[in-house]
Amino acid sequence: MHSDIERILISEEELDGIITRIAGDIDRDYAGSDKRLLLLCILKGSVVFMGELMKKITVPVEIDFMKVSSYGAGTQTTGHVNIILDLYRKDLASCDILIVEDIIDSGRTLSYLVEYLRLKGAKSVKTVTLLDKPSRREVDFTPDYHGVEIPDLFVVGYGLDYAEKYRARPYVGILKPEVYTHN
Ligand code: IMP
Ligand code: MG
Repeated sequence: MHSDIERILISEEELDGIITRIAGDIDRDYAGSDKRLLLLCILKGSVVFMGELMKKITVPVEIDFMKVSSYGAGTQTTGHVNIILDLYRKDLASCDILIVEDIIDSGRTLSYLVEYLRLKGAKSVKTVTLLDKPSRREVDFTPDYHGVEIPDLFVVGYGLDYAEKYRARPYVGILKPEVYTHN
């Protein structure tokens, strides 16, 4: 384990089981339908979850990417959602978008993106998040699919970062407080 990590909150094996379960739910909902499932990965934090999820889903999928930022350099949200990389597709009216997100905290990113993509003309917009911190909600938002609820702790790994570090850790872990109180 990395020396900056205090403890592992969700192990690689547990994450695998959680994502297998979510993929099964998605398969069931989208199987045999006339839906055209577009997995929309929200960069950068969702990249590991997206990679695992798309391998486990068996119905046909297309993939695309958006990049947004709502965080500054540290652990506090700015409250604003900035689109850094937009979704450019001419066929949105035939796309059933499933936004793939790493974690819901205040709920601002996903509620903004759902509205944004609906206004852009997507056929349907649903959301899946690996982690959910319901105690931190600032706007009312419930994802269509979610992995696990976690307490109000700042977590890293499995795509999630602190100041761009720890994204490649294969588990979800809790940082030692001194790592983010020092700077
Ligand atoms: P929201 O808009 O407040 O729901 O924030 C969602 C985004 O904040 C996520 O996509 C993450 O990028 C980031 N975030 C929220 N909580 C954490 C955390 O505990 N660790 C790392 N990033 C987080
Ligand atoms: Mg994110």
